[in-house]
Amino acid sequence: MAADELIFDEGVLAPEPLVEFQGDRGAAHTGGLAILPWRGPWLEAQASGIRVAASAPGPSEEQFGQALVHVQKSRAATWRDLGAAWELLESGGRLLVCGGNDLGITSLVKRLAQELDQPPQILSNRRHARIVAFQRGSGPAPHGADASRIEVPLANGRSVSLHAEPGVFSAKRLDTGTQLLLEALEDEGAPDKILDLGCGIGPLGLASLVRWPEARALLLDGDARAVASAARNLAHLSLETRAEVGWWDAEENCPETGFDLALVNPPFHEGKAVDLRPARAMFTRLAEALAMGGRALIVANRSLPYERDLDGAGSMKILSHSRGYKIIAFTRRSVTRNPGRGRGSRASRR
Ligand SMILES: C[S@@+](CC[C@H](N)C(=O)[O-])C[C@H]1O[C@@H](n2cnc3c(N)ncnc32)[C@H](O)[C@@H]1O
Repeated sequence: MAADELIFDEGVLAPEPLVEFQGDRGAAHTGGLAILPWRGPWLEAQASGIRVAASAPGPSEEQFGQALVHVQKSRAATWRDLGAAWELLESGGRLLVCGGNDLGITSLVKRLAQELDQPPQILSNRRHARIVAFQRGSGPAPHGADASRIEVPLANGRSVSLHAEPGVFSAKRLDTGTQLLLEALEDEGAPDKILDLGCGIGPLGLASLVRWPEARALLLDGDARAVASAARNLAHLSLETRAEVGWWDAEENCPETGFDLALVNPPFHEGKAVDLRPARAMFTRLAEALAMGGRALIVANRSLPYERDLDGAGSMKILSHSRGYKIIAFTRRSVTRNPGRGRGSRASRR
């Protein structure tokens, strides 16, 4: 990322421990702590010996003289990080904010300056990106961002309001693909063991557990904020005894097998570009995790070529087309020849 290069410009990083949000190059350079909620980057940072956490520690646990926040696509997630970074700063410590113009750093910094009631110090401004500093003093703190709630329809005609941490998928409203997949459940027979792969805040797994009161479920996601939201939603619905939530990257093996129903609304974006790699990795995991004869329901934009990726490990059928989406049913028909292609470590359970 071009903006990342700016952190090594003169006068940006002080030679003291740094807490870095959504990146690890600064923390690797100065020492300190990287906060990486995505499990894939977290695993890589950990393997390189960087001290890393999935979420920010409490301010009473540790304090830093400098904090660096990388601006994200989600404005709410960036504000959440700014609030957490501020809390971790010692008095007199510096808050560094780094990001590209395409992510709206200019307007973000303008609002932050108003909230903190101090002008930003521009440390570097090049390559269509900038890095600015504010100082923590006795003045006001950033407002941060609150979690949101979205309504999810359940089988019994009721709906439930789910908790969503800032920045997670569908934090503002239920995704249309998810809604169509929920509707497709009406025609399914009762499963015993359900896998919700890329669960987000959990609408598919949770609604399935309500629909089939005898079933158990495993919900997995690579975003620790989604995992925390799903775990909280399960507890809120008193479903935690029938389900587990795991922090897992699609490149890792699935921590359990033998599922008779899997539900997948696969990710297909990395920033603005279409990136089908995580979806393809999930399909590999599906073929391994389903029991023989087990079935997966996958929702996708009509134009996405998933049928090709699923071909070979089972049989496939398009169940429906609606509102620009398709629902694909995949049934596992044989043992996969190469079940150990993932990173191999087990997902961490919550
Ligand atoms: C399209 S969303 C669907 C979320 C949820 N199932 C729903 O329907 O609202 C895809 C989910 O995949 C997760 N995801 C993206 N890349 C991943 C990866 N490499 N490993 C595991 N999960 C990933 C995202 O965090 C996101 O929650």
